[in-house]
Order: sequence, then C-alpha cells, then structure tokens
Amino acid sequence: MLEKIKATATFINEKAKRPIDAAIILGSGLGGLVKEIEIELTIPYCEIPDFPLSTIDGHSGNLIIGRLGGKTVLAMQGRFHYYEGYSMKEVTFPVRVMKMMGINTLFVSNASGGLNPDYKVGDIVIITDHINFFPEHPLRGKNMEELGPRFPDMSKSYDLHLRNKAKAIALKKGINVREGVYVGVSGPTFETPAEYLMFRHLGADVVGMSTVPEVIVARHMDMTVFGISIVTDSGVPGQIVEISHEEVQEVAMKAEPHMTLIMKELIEGL
Ligand code: HPA
Repeated sequence: MLEKIKATATFINEKAKRPIDAAIILGSGLGGLVKEIEIELTIPYCEIPDFPLSTIDGHSGNLIIGRLGGKTVLAMQGRFHYYEGYSMKEVTFPVRVMKMMGINTLFVSNASGGLNPDYKVGDIVIITDHINFFPEHPLRGKNMEELGPRFPDMSKSYDLHLRNKAKAIALKKGINVREGVYVGVSGPTFETPAEYLMFRHLGADVVGMSTVPEVIVARHMDMTVFGISIVTDSGVPGQIVEISHEEVQEVAMKAEPHMTLIMKELIEGL
C-alpha cells in the first residue's frame, strides 16, 4: 500500500514539477471552484496509476493543478464515495497521495441535508467537527507507522485558525455562514424522516455521504483541514420534501460562488 502511495505521488509530482501549497476536494455540484483556478495541468483520474475512477454524474474525475489566490493548488474534481462500492482504502487513497506529495493543507466541500432547524436550504456551513457514522473505518487494519499513529487524536480535526479566518472573510463579504457538526453516512439512500431526526438527536447539524473518511485519513497524517458544506435539502421535521441527486446539485451550484469566494480568500491567506 505504502509503495503504491509513493509511486502515485511521484507520478503526479513529476508531472506537476512544482511544490503545491494546498489540496482541494470538491463535492457534488461544487466543482465551480475549478473555473477560478488558472489551470496549468489536468490529469484525468484514469491516467493516474492506482487511482479509482468516479462513477456518478456531477463528479468529473480530474486532478487539476493550477494557481488560485496566488498559491499553487491541486484540486480533485470529483471524489470517491463509499456508496459507489469503493473500499475505504480506495476512498481515501488520494488523500494519502496528497500528503506523500508534500501537501499539508486540505480543503473539502460537500453537499448535505440540514438537520439544525435554524438552517435553510442554500446555507453555507463551516464544519466544526464530525460524527463518523460509516460502517467501515478507513484506518482499520495494520497501521502505516510512517504515515501516522495507531490511535490518532481527533479532538481538533477542523482547524480553528482557518475556521475563524473563514468567518472573518464571510463577514467582510457580507456572506451569511453557519458553523456546525457534519455526520458522515454511507448512503446512497437519503435519510428517512426518522433517520434525520436520529442524527439531529445525536448532535449533528448536517448529514452527508462523504468527507469524514478523507478527513480521518488527513488527520491521521497531521494535515491541516478546512471543511465547508452547502445545505441542499432539509431534514427538519415538517420541512422534509422529496429530493433527488439533481436537485442536490442544483442547490449546491447556486450557493457555490459564495463558497468559492471564501475558499479562494482562505487559500490566498495561507
Ligand atoms: N442526506 C445525505 N446526504 C446528502 C443529503 C442528505 O439529505 N443532501 C446532500 N447530501
């Protein structure tokens, strides 16, 4: 496994030919940030050794290297979801590769269902913490000591400094943001009303089908993490309506420019 990670990292580094300041993983309908990147190199996932392939609409499947906010970034246009059938090792493989390439800061975005009754569809949520509700743990199995400890601390997973900066940027730009806890579930079903209520009772503000595995692996390797979520539908009792993947993408795309602005300025300030 470690050899594969090293080989893929070397492959990308040899193509990139420059140090990279931060990595970005873009969620459903949130790929618009790529338009802001002065793209220098696009590598389709299918050309990268040992990279899984994206299988669903709205996830293009390219690794993009370019300039954003005066920094060099690597963006994943499309991520690997557990519900697609990938193992947790596959879902998190790109994050391992990022760290091996020498990248120490990870930005993640996602679409989510709102559980907190104060949240509205279209709200931007700065993730403060998460609940891992996936049925398989990405760190289960022999620990790769070279990469991180057997029992990683998770008490400060979402970097406070970046969260505070994001809030300051939002305030300055007049963008309304929330702060909340993300619960990560396997999907692919959206929640039943009873499940939404359960996740609210468990202490979550939003629910989604990604992010948690990548963040766990990033924190295992002591990467600095910033996470942001767009509420694309409501899981609040009385407000739940039928939803589809297309609607999730549509709402995400509408809120995306504000999220992009926050991410861009955060990266500029790195
Ligand atoms: N539940 C789970 N994942 C999601 C949702 C949801 O309501 N919306 C977007 N991703």
